[in-house]
Amino acid sequence: MKRLDPSLDAAKRNAAARAVAMIENKMVLGLGSGSTASFAIELIGRRVADGLHVVGIPTSERSAALARKVGVPLSDFSRHRKIDLTIDGADQIEDGTLNLVKGLGGAMLREKIVAEASARMIVVADHSKRVRQLGAATPLPVELVPFGWEIAVEKLEALGCNATLRRVDGAAFTTDGGNVVADCRFERIPDAAGLQAALKAITGVVETGLFVGLASLAVLGTDDGVTVLER
Ligand code: A5P
Repeated sequence: MKRLDPSLDAAKRNAAARAVAMIENKMVLGLGSGSTASFAIELIGRRVADGLHVVGIPTSERSAALARKVGVPLSDFSRHRKIDLTIDGADQIEDGTLNLVKGLGGAMLREKIVAEASARMIVVADHSKRVRQLGAATPLPVELVPFGWEIAVEKLEALGCNATLRRVDGAAFTTDGGNVVADCRFERIPDAAGLQAALKAITGVVETGLFVGLASLAVLGTDDGVTVLER
């Protein structure tokens, strides 16, 4: 599991606040996962308390629980096929393309389903997540069905990474969908779309944390403000 750095909380909060200010009445929202998206959910809760009418489709059980706690009404794809705006975090954000690595929290499958259903996806993060090119800053998480994960990991490594099964206290980490995760260390990811296609071609791969062409805006927080990056 990832470690969180509390000294970045102000930066994350600033990014979340700028994105939440862009929410309009009656929007269907995608509620992201992770610490920065959680700040956004809390701030949405405050706006709802002040009279904003929105519903949110959560990207994880944890975000759903937080949304309930802070009073954000929840919905799902049976009621809304389209999302107006998703606010979600990321582990790496590539300059220019806004291609992303996500999934250190393990929610990348639902996060991607929600992002793909969204007219706009705003990424919120502290400034440390910005990279010139996706690559070694964090592992790339890949969600695998548990059956035969050992074989899938070998095939992942044949694509040029070092892959390890994510474990928590010795046991395999499982996602909200009951799958396992391989954390893949690539030195460089010069062709994110090509790598995504190669990864998805491996039997047993459910989804990857590579988000190509999905983010329209990135709001990067610092201690005293934000930088906004467009694709
Ligand atoms: C969850 O699976 C991830 O995709 C998160 O969105 C990502 O790890 C960013 O999380 P933080 O905001 O906690 O860094």
